[in-house]
Amino acid sequence: MRQVVLGKDLRVSAMGLGCMGFSHACGLPTEEGEAVKAIRAAYDAGYTFFDTAECYIGTNADGTPSLNEELVGKALKEVRGNVVIATKFGVKHEGVRLHMDSRPEVIRRSVEGSLKRLNTDHIDLYYQHRIDPNVPAEEVASVMAELIKEGKITHWGISETDEEYLRRAHAVCSVTAIQNRYSMMYRSYERLFPVLEELKVGFVAFSPLANGVLSAAYNAESKFNEAGDYRANMPQFQPQAYAENAQLFGLLQELAERHHATPAQISLAWMMNKQPHVVPIPGSRKIARIRENARAAEIKMTKEEVTRIDEALSVVKMSGVFGGHR
Ligand SMILES: NC(=O)c1ccc[n+]([C@@H]2O[C@H](COP(=O)([O-])OP(=O)(O)OC[C@H]3O[C@@H](n4cnc5c(N)ncnc54)[C@H](OP(=O)(O)O)[C@@H]3O)[C@@H](O)[C@H]2O)c1
Repeated sequence: MRQVVLGKDLRVSAMGLGCMGFSHACGLPTEEGEAVKAIRAAYDAGYTFFDTAECYIGTNADGTPSLNEELVGKALKEVRGNVVIATKFGVKHEGVRLHMDSRPEVIRRSVEGSLKRLNTDHIDLYYQHRIDPNVPAEEVASVMAELIKEGKITHWGISETDEEYLRRAHAVCSVTAIQNRYSMMYRSYERLFPVLEELKVGFVAFSPLANGVLSAAYNAESKFNEAGDYRANMPQFQPQAYAENAQLFGLLQELAERHHATPAQISLAWMMNKQPHVVPIPGSRKIARIRENARAAEIKMTKEEVTRIDEALSVVKMSGVFGGHR
């Protein structure tokens, strides 16, 4: 897969693999051997950028925990020198609610835990998972500068940041990438593009398929296991949403036919062609889909085509989407 540079010097594949779903938020965790196989298949397909987090934890059928960082560490052990591993600190799940805690002593404990679970001596990209309203940006950035000096991390980033927080943090310790929600159904962070260009900060797009719905592979009959699968309650997966999104699916289908591609590939190619610093990290637990998504990095769109798609997306009817508004 072609490579791109995030920030000043972090070389990653043009698309990363979101590893969350192997353990967390998508129903029962994937059996460890299967997950390791899928992550290695992603590496073989050209992905060199893998995304996990301290808080991606699930419960296996036998009651044991599935620690996503451990899976990722295990899968990438033999190729560690060739890959970029991104993980995150600062969030704990309390049921479906998130508890933010980025106090320096908490970050220090987290980094040690992540290094151990990932079975590595450094983290390539360490994100603050969510802004902690009780800890100033400057304080978090100072801890990041110390961790870089100590060699425990080499780059850092912020997830779900706004412009003000990013600027304050970046002034203390250069931010390599932000990781925010971004898809054809959720475009509000496009307002940050000029700031990212000015500061030379990359944009890693999470939930780039709007949690899968933009693959057009689901329909009103699709069922999700309510207990551990967040999609069961997401607005875009409610039975009536498929009719509300009919026009959007039609647009995706038309573009897919034009490019001899699939709707998922079009959704990903659109953002990669829009801005060179946008790197999507779609998640999938299925090898065929991991390979399908990878091929999106080869699809070329002209600036005019991307603009036409943007214009169409601004007027097309859409259902609500998890995370809020478009
Ligand atoms: N920073 C944050 O706060 C944050 C929040 C959420 C996620 N993330 C990161 O972003 C990654 C991706 O986000 P996400 O998982 O929320 O959403 P996503 O990538 O938009 O969608 C993932 C879902 O789409 C399905 N899918 C993927 N490719 C497909 C294809 N080609 N055809 C049909 N279905 C396909 C997957 O199902 P199967 O697994 O069954 O294929 C999975 O359920 C996560 O893994 C995580 O690393 C970060």
